[in-house]
Amino acid sequence: MTIRAACFVVLMFILSPAWAQSPFDGLTEGDLADGERLFRVHCARCHGIDGAGGEGSNLVRSKLKHAADDEALIALLGDGIPGTGMPGMWTLDENQRTRVAAYVRTLGRLEAEEMPGDPLRGATIYQSSGGCPACHILEGHGTGIGPELTDVGDRRGLEYLRRSMVEPAAAQSQTMGYQDYLTVRVRTADGSVEGLRVNEDAFTVQVRDIGGVVHSFRKDDLTEFEKVFAHSLMPEYGTVLAANDMDDLISYLMSLRSGE
Ligand code: HEC
Ligand code: HEC
Repeated sequence: MTIRAACFVVLMFILSPAWAQSPFDGLTEGDLADGERLFRVHCARCHGIDGAGGEGSNLVRSKLKHAADDEALIALLGDGIPGTGMPGMWTLDENQRTRVAAYVRTLGRLEAEEMPGDPLRGATIYQSSGGCPACHILEGHGTGIGPELTDVGDRRGLEYLRRSMVEPAAAQSQTMGYQDYLTVRVRTADGSVEGLRVNEDAFTVQVRDIGGVVHSFRKDDLTEFEKVFAHSLMPEYGTVLAANDMDDLISYLMSLRSGE
């Protein structure tokens, strides 16, 4: 090595900050293959065998919203994302999480899932047929009894989106993190209300009806109080929309992504 090259190496060593080191340094091809195997066993049932998403987010993206860098990705796999359907992967040790994370990063270089229809037509259908904005907020418009859809294309993949349109109750009951969407029916001397349970304690229950109005009841005043599990307030659209309109609408939902 010439003196100049040696100086260069020393200088690079001094200048390179600690964060420039990747947690994936030193991983072999074999480790990556093991990461893929672990992904199939522990992640594919939610994120799809190819990582393109389902009940879990589409991971075939160069940037992940909840994992700005590789350290954050490894940490996320341990902790999960509280309040969502992403569980902490505590059955995997640190080495295994690192290998799966490295595999997830390789997915980011693949092509995204293909849309079944035309997202532009789908946008019109969203606004005009089916009353979606009556229950969902999208980019600040609409009312919010259902989950916000502004970046649903980041969080959910094709298959899950189709299921949530055709069989919303099935999609919902599959997904953890949806305790927030429990349907309740209550009856008082004055009449009955069906809606989502907003809050409940020993003495009272608050219910948001489909119109978005929150009603508060004392449990003593109720003649009937039913929790309807695995039931969705969202209509089943499989019979309402023509097949090609459904494909367009689903393509529109897939296109709803945060800026990358
Ligand atoms: C029980 C279903 C389920 C399993 C199992 C699961 N995930 Fe998830 N994951 C989700 C859901 C749902 C989300 C979306 C959370 C949200 O933002 O609402 C998610 C989000 C993520 C994110 C964040 C994506 C982003 O845009 O930032 C990553 C990364 C991730 N999962 C990786 C994994 C990996 C790797 C595994 C396996 C070790 C795994 N998940 C197992 C359901 C799951
Ligand atoms: C009467 C209210 C209502 C209407 C109308 C409605 N939804 Fe929903 N939607 C909900 C609720 C509530 C949920 C939460 C899960 C559940 O309870 O099924 C939901 C869930 C969803 C999900 C799953 C989101 C996720 O992150 O898992 C999608 C996608 C969706 N709706 C799209 C639509 C579209 C598109 C339309 C119009 C064609 C529509 N919804 C009309 C109430 C509604």
